[in-house]
Amino acid sequence: MFSILRRTLSTILAILLFAPLLSAQWAPLATDPDAAKRIEWWREARFGMFLHWGVYSIPGRGEWVQWQEQIPVDQYAKLAEQFHPEHFDADAWASVAKAGGMKYMVLTARHHDGFALFDDPGSSFTAMKSAAHHDFVADYVKAVRKAGLGVGLYYSPLDWRFPGFFFPEIYQPNAVELREQYARQIDEIASHYGKLDILWFDGGGNEWLGFGGVQFAGSGWQARPKDKPYSGTFDWQDGKTVGHLRQLQPGIVLNDRTNAPADYRSREGDGALGDFDNQHPWELCTTITDGAWGYIPGAKVKPLAQLLGLLVGAAGRDGNMLLNVGPRPDGVIDPPQAERLAEMGKWLAANGESIYGTRGGPWLPGAYGVSTHKGKTVYVHVLHAPKDLALVLPTLPVRVLKAAVLHGGDVAFQQTEQTLSLTLPASAADAIDTVIELELAAPWTTSAVVPVAER
Ligand code: GLC
Repeated sequence: MFSILRRTLSTILAILLFAPLLSAQWAPLATDPDAAKRIEWWREARFGMFLHWGVYSIPGRGEWVQWQEQIPVDQYAKLAEQFHPEHFDADAWASVAKAGGMKYMVLTARHHDGFALFDDPGSSFTAMKSAAHHDFVADYVKAVRKAGLGVGLYYSPLDWRFPGFFFPEIYQPNAVELREQYARQIDEIASHYGKLDILWFDGGGNEWLGFGGVQFAGSGWQARPKDKPYSGTFDWQDGKTVGHLRQLQPGIVLNDRTNAPADYRSREGDGALGDFDNQHPWELCTTITDGAWGYIPGAKVKPLAQLLGLLVGAAGRDGNMLLNVGPRPDGVIDPPQAERLAEMGKWLAANGESIYGTRGGPWLPGAYGVSTHKGKTVYVHVLHAPKDLALVLPTLPVRVLKAAVLHGGDVAFQQTEQTLSLTLPASAADAIDTVIELELAAPWTTSAVVPVAER
């Protein structure tokens, strides 16, 4: 029976193996000999904390406040005189992340407004030259490493203070200055804070040059089509700067927002969960509150079910999740955000084995939910329990030996040539995610996947 089944299924699976390749974007993915090894820990980690923090936290209108309100550069720079976060405590940040079940952290070392939280003798707009006179990246790196979490920094090559970013042609010398700042600051970050595990670029690459798309086309200004990157003469020279970064930090993993080869793709926002992809490492980044990434007083924290749905949804599509908090100007992560993270951490303390160190599949996401696996164990994440509690999935070309609610009672099941039927115990049905653990007769080692009908 299983040989016929194996043959029919392998043809279907073959078709499904290649689908994700079509959706590549921006930077190519790295293919050097160490690439797979380099990304392994990151893939196992599955869940990280993003932190958007800087002088934009003071007005509390999000990290794009300068651009959205067109605040003149010299006026905006005055925020640095007010930047003295009296309750800043990087150890406290790390413990909030740890309590949330997060395995790595990524802090905005410098965002689009140009303010650097690290020391750069070549720039006048840094935390060292602010009212705080302090290198916050140094504390952050030490605390995150001490907590045993992956150490990540976000860096924006684009800087709104440079007219050359907006018009790299007519302001070429200034564009070159911007590029030199980029190379200098990457060198500062990569040389003075010890081992870094992640560099999270944003606003780099030709995608963003010339300010995201405004160009002069003969008769006037017009938005450059989204999929048409900048094509002028200016170049970020990412190969050189990122090449230098990789020399200084050989184990570092990079996202895909420069033109240089990346280690993983970044998808952005709740709506970007997207397709299953176990061919290219990827990460969904989103915010724990509605609205901006930077601090906004009273911003509404998203419900636990929504956030866990995204985390489980990403893992079931073979991706990571990077969840953002926006600390207050005094340095504290707003208690409602920390509390929500603690709730996620509690869920992960009970169900983490079905997320950490797993791969997406074998079943593709469907009306039922998603699945993850590790060795001989498959976890069916029932996000939407069928009314009659009878879950029917296409069978697997491997025998299922046992089914049980994770840390709970046995689940009745029947496997045929076509289907695997699971009878969910009503008592175990969880409104957010009922995790069913299946023990297989052999490890699921293939990256092939099984399609599930979308009801
Ligand atoms: C968006 C926001 C930017 C933020 C980034 C994080 O692009 O505009 O401010 O840093 O997302 O992914």
